[in-house]
Amino acid sequence: MAVFNSVEFHTFGSAVSIPFPLIVNVIISVGAFYVGQKLIPKMKTMFINANLSGIDMNKSSKPRIPEAFGVVTGCIFLISLFLFIPIPFVRDFSLNSQGEFPHNKFVEFIAAMLSICCMILLGFADDVLNLRWRDKLYLPTVASLPLLMVYYTNFNSTTIIMPRFVASFVGTSLNIGILYYIYMGMLAVFCTNAINILAGINGLEVCQSLVIAGSIIIFNLIEIFSGHCKEAYEFSLYIMFPYVGATLALWKYNRYPSQVFVGDTFNYLSGMTFAVVGILGHFSKTVLLFFIPQIINFLYSVPQLFRFIPCPRHRLPKYDPSTGLLNFSRTQFRTSELNILGKFCYYLFRHARIIKCEETEDGIVTCNNFTIINFAILFTGPIREDKLNNVLIIFQLVCSIFAFAIRYPLAHYFYETIN
Ligand code: UD1
Ligand code: MG
Repeated sequence: MAVFNSVEFHTFGSAVSIPFPLIVNVIISVGAFYVGQKLIPKMKTMFINANLSGIDMNKSSKPRIPEAFGVVTGCIFLISLFLFIPIPFVRDFSLNSQGEFPHNKFVEFIAAMLSICCMILLGFADDVLNLRWRDKLYLPTVASLPLLMVYYTNFNSTTIIMPRFVASFVGTSLNIGILYYIYMGMLAVFCTNAINILAGINGLEVCQSLVIAGSIIIFNLIEIFSGHCKEAYEFSLYIMFPYVGATLALWKYNRYPSQVFVGDTFNYLSGMTFAVVGILGHFSKTVLLFFIPQIINFLYSVPQLFRFIPCPRHRLPKYDPSTGLLNFSRTQFRTSELNILGKFCYYLFRHARIIKCEETEDGIVTCNNFTIINFAILFTGPIREDKLNNVLIIFQLVCSIFAFAIRYPLAHYFYETIN
């Protein structure tokens, strides 16, 4: 992205130049935070009146909480991006070194917004219409279409860099064609749903998204300061800062005890944003490294997601009114009713001791639901909702640190260049 001006700061004798658009972007992001903070409490009754609400199941009074506030955050985020469009693209200033307007970059930015906008619409449809589980899988695929089509017309690079040890057989890079598009579509499906199924306690959806966003920002800054492909990482920052601004405002009201619920709109919007910056910033593999807890939760959930093991509508932890603490929630089945894959998963998980189960004499098994939220409670014992959230977020942070540790030393070992 062409930079028409930059501001230089002098620290310890060395000059750091910050692009002017980035400064404007940060100011807009701070504005997004303040607008969100003012707007969300004012809209609570509006959502309740429209019947957009859900019961907070982990409280003794079972309060009705307005739901789907992700749509407010999403709109603030989008408007911030709209306002930002002219800044890096003012025609007279943004000409690249050959004196041309950066049409490609401009189209990419618009396509990114189109996909995010489409995801907000479909996510909100899910919140209002309560779509079936199967349909939830298709939504991100549909929403990623604008992005994939623009990528095809505009960029269409489907070449991946090969690790050193296979480079001698297939060359340093390999064109995987259509597979690359399938991968990008699946990345959007994974990122959105992975956040949605690691949910159910106050603040968790927003906190995990903020940690992932923070990790992406740190990664982009490291790359920019080390002089790698500056434009792509700047592009990512232009999207991530307003996202963080709008989301921090939501966090203020969604943290324990929640005054608003984020709804699937927010989870889809977040996942899509991370997929979009990963794809257009050309660091889609690195993005996945920041999803380690979500990947573990997904793998652990597979038997229930694909219904090999019965999956209740809600797998969130169970509130115990006598102590005010959360305990793990359970699912029940007879081993004789399971299909072959169900039996295999059950015995595998049981022998690996990653589930806690009891079997009665007449063959009824009761075990914890397969989420890392319930798994954490197996370790901690009954725990307060806010503490459980902290435990899971500390885990997410540790995984991010681990991600950086493997991204840098190992990537340089395996690859000559990596994205
Ligand atoms: C996903 C999970 C489901 C989990 C739910 C919680 C899978 C396959 N699905 O379903 O197991 O129970 O998210 O969000 O893993 N809620 C609370 N406290 C919170 C957040 C949510 O009680 O802090 C409840 C509220 O009743 C809220 C509802 O969860 O209305 C939202 O659930 P929804 O997002 O519709 O569930 P799914 O995303 O389908
Ligand atoms: Mg949800």
